[in-house]
Amino acid sequence: MRDLTTDGLVAGWPGGPDVLPGLTTHVDADGGWLVVRGPSGSGKSTFLAVLLAALRPRAGGYALGGVPTLRLTGEGVRSRIAWLPQEAHVFASSIRANLALAAPRGELAGRDGEARMRAAPAAAGLGGLLAGLPEGLDTPVGAGGTALSGGERRRLAAARALLADRDVVLLDEPTAHLDPPTAAALLHDLRAALAGRVVVCVTHDDTVEQRGDTVVRLGTPVPALAS
Ligand SMILES: Nc1ncnc2c1ncn2[C@@H]1O[C@H](COP(=O)(O)OP(=O)(O)O)[C@@H](O)[C@H]1O
Ligand SMILES: [Mg+2]
Repeated sequence: MRDLTTDGLVAGWPGGPDVLPGLTTHVDADGGWLVVRGPSGSGKSTFLAVLLAALRPRAGGYALGGVPTLRLTGEGVRSRIAWLPQEAHVFASSIRANLALAAPRGELAGRDGEARMRAAPAAAGLGGLLAGLPEGLDTPVGAGGTALSGGERRRLAAARALLADRDVVLLDEPTAHLDPPTAAALLHDLRAALAGRVVVCVTHDDTVEQRGDTVVRLGTPVPALAS
């Protein structure tokens, strides 16, 4: 599946005002990313919730590979999408166990799975870190991933999203809380690792977008509701 189109998407949370004002946009696997920019509270994560079929639009809709998602079940939509959440959780377990969350049905068992399990963190820029760890993928990351730096935790979460191996990848504030060089390095690695996929990236970081991207700006939030 090679493209995602939204058509007049209006959405809001139960009992609340419209957050998305009627978004019409298009992103293609062979083009750049769809970068959705806006301040905190402007509806960026809400947009991803709609794309993940976690929130039903009030009007309009969207299509994956030309198929209106109203014709698919929520599971059908989500089976095509990998999501890097805004606050991706890292469990107090090994790097391997944290990556394996991407494949809950045992898809990473066997030699091929092991190769993918090594390739994903390398593509996410963790190759150097892993090479220096005697226990490799079996290294514990500590409670909440505290044995890792903020950038490494984000890369681990990104590797998990890569391992899910979906046509569409949603990135929610991938550079938040990272210093500018770390953010730039992570973006560079993500751009390479996600080539050929449909990528939607929501962010308030104006260094994310580059030439070839489609950029959409969401408006100012209602102050009382902004978070
Ligand atoms: N799960 C939710 N339930 C109810 N309201 C929400 C939820 N998530 C976000 N909102 C509200 O929707 C609006 C947009 O928030 P959000 O999409 O999280 O903005 P952003 O990601 O741009 O910071 C805000 O008013 C916020 O309070
Ligand atoms: Mg958000």
